[in-house]
Amino acid sequence: MPAESVLVLAGAQQGLDLIARCLIDPGDAVIIDRPGYLGAIQSFHAAGAKLIGWDVLNSDIDELEDLLVRYRPKLIYTNPTFQNPTGVTMPIRTRRELLKLAERYRVPIVEDATYRELYFTDVPPPSLRELDGQNLVIYLNSFSKVMAPGLRLGWLSAAPSIIDQIAIIKQRLDPHTQNLVQFAMARLISEGDFDAHLKTLRGEHARRCALMLAAMQRHIPPGALRVGRPHGGLYLWCRLSAGVSSRALLDRALSAGIAFVAGHAFRQSLDSKE
Ligand SMILES: Cc1ncc(COP(=O)(O)O)c(C=O)c1O
Repeated sequence: MPAESVLVLAGAQQGLDLIARCLIDPGDAVIIDRPGYLGAIQSFHAAGAKLIGWDVLNSDIDELEDLLVRYRPKLIYTNPTFQNPTGVTMPIRTRRELLKLAERYRVPIVEDATYRELYFTDVPPPSLRELDGQNLVIYLNSFSKVMAPGLRLGWLSAAPSIIDQIAIIKQRLDPHTQNLVQFAMARLISEGDFDAHLKTLRGEHARRCALMLAAMQRHIPPGALRVGRPHGGLYLWCRLSAGVSSRALLDRALSAGIAFVAGHAFRQSLDSKE
């Protein structure tokens, strides 16, 4: 990838904030995963965007087209692989259809690929950026989930014209992402240690996920909860049976030393078709 298509960041969250500052004017519509990553909701919200949720659990392409026609959004934000918070991965067919729609309506897509490398066994479908023939995708990734969140190291890859504009805004706030961390990461990658580390990480996450699912099956009465089976990433998305309040359950769980995030948090401030 040519250097002029890449901007090194202090983490993916900085990228979201910069994209929002660069591309969003108050009142602009942004289509975003629903439920969606809280940090993205907050960044676009802070830029004054009107947030329109696209249901990621159905990822219905007709619904998306309807939203594009109705709201004429400035951009689409999605976290298509092992999504935060649902753990779902967008199928290849939907990826292709999404790109076709983005091209037809000339809407850029922000692809947040933070969990892409954390597959358990099978490699996920190609990224939107890889499938994109029109330079419509602004690709965002980070070493936070695959190395250490405290490194504060991530990157954006996009058309050079977009990278140039975002780099100007970045210079105002953060003239240079730390060299030392970049050198250390570059060395880990070039000497092969990073790939070896990723392999270990994938196996360990797969093991922990299987343990968690087995424990849930053992301890939770049948029918009380439905849980998705992710193929990678860090998240388990659960649905409670009717009549059980996630807020009430959270209070009980916390007093037993178990934490989870109740789902309504990931839908706050999002409008949708419903
Ligand atoms: C989907 C998603 N994007 C971005 C981030 C932020 O990552 P970073 O630590 O690189 O700023 C997170 C962190 O939880 C995330 O889940």
